[in-house]
Amino acid sequence: MLSAVRRVATANSASLVRPLASMHMTSSFSTSSSAYAPITVKNITVFGSGLMGAGIVQVAAQNAFDVTMVDLNPEALKKGQDIITSSLKRVAKKQFPEDAGKQKEFIDTTMARIKTSTDSEAAAKNADLIVEAIVENLKTKQQLFSLLDKVAPEHTLFCSNTSSLPIEEIAKATKRTDRFGGLHFFNPVPQMKLVEVIRTDATSQDSFDALLDVCKRMKKTPVSCKDTPGFIVNRLLVPYMMESLRIVERGEATPEDVDTAMKLGAGFPMGPFELADFVGLDTMKFIVDGWRKEGKVDANLVAPVKLLDELVAKGDLGRKSGQGFYPYGGVGGKK
Ligand SMILES: NC(=O)c1ccc[n+]([C@@H]2O[C@H](COP(=O)([O-])OP(=O)(O)OC[C@H]3O[C@@H](n4cnc5c(N)ncnc54)[C@H](O)[C@@H]3O)[C@@H](O)[C@H]2O)c1
Repeated sequence: MLSAVRRVATANSASLVRPLASMHMTSSFSTSSSAYAPITVKNITVFGSGLMGAGIVQVAAQNAFDVTMVDLNPEALKKGQDIITSSLKRVAKKQFPEDAGKQKEFIDTTMARIKTSTDSEAAAKNADLIVEAIVENLKTKQQLFSLLDKVAPEHTLFCSNTSSLPIEEIAKATKRTDRFGGLHFFNPVPQMKLVEVIRTDATSQDSFDALLDVCKRMKKTPVSCKDTPGFIVNRLLVPYMMESLRIVERGEATPEDVDTAMKLGAGFPMGPFELADFVGLDTMKFIVDGWRKEGKVDANLVAPVKLLDELVAKGDLGRKSGQGFYPYGGVGGKK
């Protein structure tokens, strides 16, 4: 989800997140090595060429991995390629501001490392690591992994970029739960430094170490987390955003005043209502409803808020619909 968590995450949570994560990484995990020799990942196959998949492909290729990007049809792949091309142009200009030749060389070298495919089975055959960034639907993800489990080499590591589904549930569709984890990237992937690396009770130490290594080679900062709802960033942000809604619903303050308070009083780069509009109120509701149903998060933290439900029912979803807590001039446009 929370693409928008990015700003808050970078500005506020980086220093908190790491100590918390390391405190929790204790012996409750399996520290056993899997039966498969530790691997150094070279070839990565990414499923999904949307916002997240394209970003992951780009960052991997920029950092010398050979990458295959897979989607359901050529049109979706073309969209992914366009996302990558325009993002690479920006990165090249920033890295080599005065040198058009070097910019071109950087873009060409990166693009040469990227293949595309609509053939899931063929694309899995050469992968050391498969990163799944397809639609946020448990059944669809399970179906994909069940197929990939049958065709990918035994050593291949699997991971999901899911924001809200339990990794353990997705991994159940395979027979390689020891080689299965979560890599939760943040949007926009090329800019956001953080990756939450998720291990289930079954994830082997070798697999987990290999995932951490991949993040570092992508020049990201990994943090470790157990397979829990929202992992670290969203687990803290979602209840905070829900409580902000309750303050407004009780008539204690306006969205504008809450946003101003959190920006000027807590140093957050965005207020919770600006963040909710950025993320999408439907996405926020989807996550909260899912957590409530799952029952693993304190019920008070995810109790329904009428205001949110009403806005979603009306179709006021935030920036993407042109109206959320704030009006936006044109769909997705600025206030
Ligand atoms: N958008 C965010 O800010 C964000 C942040 C972190 C994590 N995530 C997670 O990343 C995942 C992808 O999110 P997104 O925003 O990139 O979605 P998106 O809708 O932009 O892209 C999903 C892509 O997956 C493709 N797809 C669907 N089924 C497929 C299949 N079987 N094989 C190959 N491709 C398939 C779709 O055609 C689409 O192009 C989700 O699990 C989401 O929860 C999203």
